Amino acid sequence: MISSLAGLHILWGLASVFSSRSSRKSASRAEDLNSTMADGEGYRNPTEVQMSQLVLPCHTNHRSELSIGQLLKWIDTAACLSAERHAGCPCVTASMDDIYFEHTISVGHVVNIKAKVNRAFNSSMEVGIQVTSEDLCSEKQWSVCKALATFVAHRELSKVKLKQTTPLTEEEKTEHSVAAERRRMRLVYADTIKDLLANCSIQDDLESRDCSRMVPAEKTRVESVELVLPPHANHQGNTFGGQIMAWMENVATIAASRLCRAHPTLKAIEMFHFRGPSQVGDRLVLKAIVNNAFKHSMEVGVCVEAYRQGAETHRQHINSAFMTFVVLDADDQPQTLPLIRPQPGDGERRYREASARKKIRLDRKYIVSCKQAEMPLSVPWDPSNQVYLSYNNVSSLKMLVAKDSWTLSLEINQVRLYILEDDKFLSFHVEMVVHVDAAQAFQLLSDLPRRPEWDKHYRSVELVQQVDEDDAIYHVISPALSSDTKPQDFVILASRRKPWDNRDPYVIALRSVTLPTHCETPEYKRGETLCSGFCLWCEGDQLTRVSYYNQATTGFLNLVTTNVAGLSSEFYTTFKACEQFLLDNRSDLVAPSLQTL
Ligand code: COA
Ligand code: ADP
Repeated sequence: MISSLAGLHILWGLASVFSSRSSRKSASRAEDLNSTMADGEGYRNPTEVQMSQLVLPCHTNHRSELSIGQLLKWIDTAACLSAERHAGCPCVTASMDDIYFEHTISVGHVVNIKAKVNRAFNSSMEVGIQVTSEDLCSEKQWSVCKALATFVAHRELSKVKLKQTTPLTEEEKTEHSVAAERRRMRLVYADTIKDLLANCSIQDDLESRDCSRMVPAEKTRVESVELVLPPHANHQGNTFGGQIMAWMENVATIAASRLCRAHPTLKAIEMFHFRGPSQVGDRLVLKAIVNNAFKHSMEVGVCVEAYRQGAETHRQHINSAFMTFVVLDADDQPQTLPLIRPQPGDGERRYREASARKKIRLDRKYIVSCKQAEMPLSVPWDPSNQVYLSYNNVSSLKMLVAKDSWTLSLEINQVRLYILEDDKFLSFHVEMVVHVDAAQAFQLLSDLPRRPEWDKHYRSVELVQQVDEDDAIYHVISPALSSDTKPQDFVILASRRKPWDNRDPYVIALRSVTLPTHCETPEYKRGETLCSGFCLWCEGDQLTRVSYYNQATTGFLNLVTTNVAGLSSEFYTTFKACEQFLLDNRSDLVAPSLQTL
């Protein structure tokens, strides 16, 4: 395949030389869509629900700020309406991903909530929610938070199979594509956290601390009960998720206040799952305690059990959540918190787990939310960030693929070269259609050690670590680009994904990582790839559209602009060799059936 360097040689020449018809077509399509959206009257996602609420004193806490519990109820209402608009039947909240609150909202301000379905799966949907606040007097606006909720549709008598959503704008296409990857991560979240907590060795100072200056965790314990009444539930009698979240936030706030003896502010809620439903008539018992207090923040854990009256009382654990609070002074600066003394046994376990969760949360926040431009080219690989790096690897490629502004630069015998320029990156993708089954092409191309068979930019590929079924780390050696330079080597994380449905491509995402066992050596120049890989679309029986994508920084590009001449057909010969490899080897494989996640 075209290595970063060689590919970029080609691109630089082509970017300035070719201005194709297709580029103008794609630009004008984007302009049309943008202009219809710009006036607010044109295109609007059919599932979009908007809610605007004026924050009144009855919605606020002691700091005269909107209580997060109230905000969660509004978020859940808007998101549920959006899900139901798509599903055409009642929906319940299944889960909520991590939420970070960037700003508090004062009394008198307006809260604007926008929710839309990013993607529908079988019976579940991912709904994306954006919350902003607005000062009506000054016209200032702030982003408050973004949230992703999963709703499950259900009908009384039959299993629901939702219709698909049709993404139109670049943002919708990106969200649609990445939603499948987020779903994958969500469904393994509980197990991932359990494994990480079991393996995370946090050194605590429990034994050496001065106990006399600490607040016993027991002092923060809260227990409360709520009776689910008809206004707390939908017309089928299922309790609204937002209502339960609001009750949880209430007890968590009391626990946090008991530690700091002040009015705390909720900063973040960790991803959680509604494990079971609750109904009108249930009594919900909510329990909260401060699990750990750090210098400026504390973790409060809350669990909810539903008690149903019947022939015999039935108890169900329906939810547990972990919330991070801070205490802000008059200038909105976080204050130092008292230390906490956990109870022996469960208390000490939760204390250690809260420390581990904090580390995991920070790692995850960094890797998952990092924008490409901010991400270092290579990130250190370790088991605690494995799931998130793999997510980032696949989602970065999917975001690149979903961009609207790809322009066709060159076509030779139906092998097409596209480029994409934005403020920081120049990327390219090469595309052709081959007469091979998509699943077989996927199997052959994801077998990275076979790449030297068709790509002269790969001299050898050694498997370093098989991380799991879909992810592996390889050490790749590329030949020297000229007689006076050293050969290059790369340490690459390869993440492969089968499509969730037949509109998704097969994906093989590649990005550099660093490994302590594979440091740079004098023998090779260490190369890095930020985001590259293959997408394979099934175009029919034995027909696959194969696309190779590569993104590089402009700084990197400047190094190679001098040597452009004469390389303009290299992408073609490499891709043709790839096609031949697929054709020659397809009969060796039994076509695996398209397995969905
Ligand atoms: N996060 C997101 N979605 C999840 C999930 C999680 N942690 N766990 C399951 N799901 C999704 C599944 O992916 C599946 O989606 P699909 O049909 O699109 O493939 C869907 O939920 C149903 O999964 P299934 O395995 O059939 O059911 P389950 O036994 O895991 O139940 C719920 C999932 C959400 C239906 C169930 O836990 C529930 O009823 N929870 C309570 C929901 C509720 O009442 N909320 C309001 C407040 S109480
Ligand atoms: P875990 O105990 O493993 O953390 P749970 O789901 O049992 O998980 O509880 C979640 C959180 O709810 C706990 O971390 C704790 O903060 C809080 N919690 C659980 N049980 C109680 C209780 N009996 N009293 C007060 N808080 C509790």
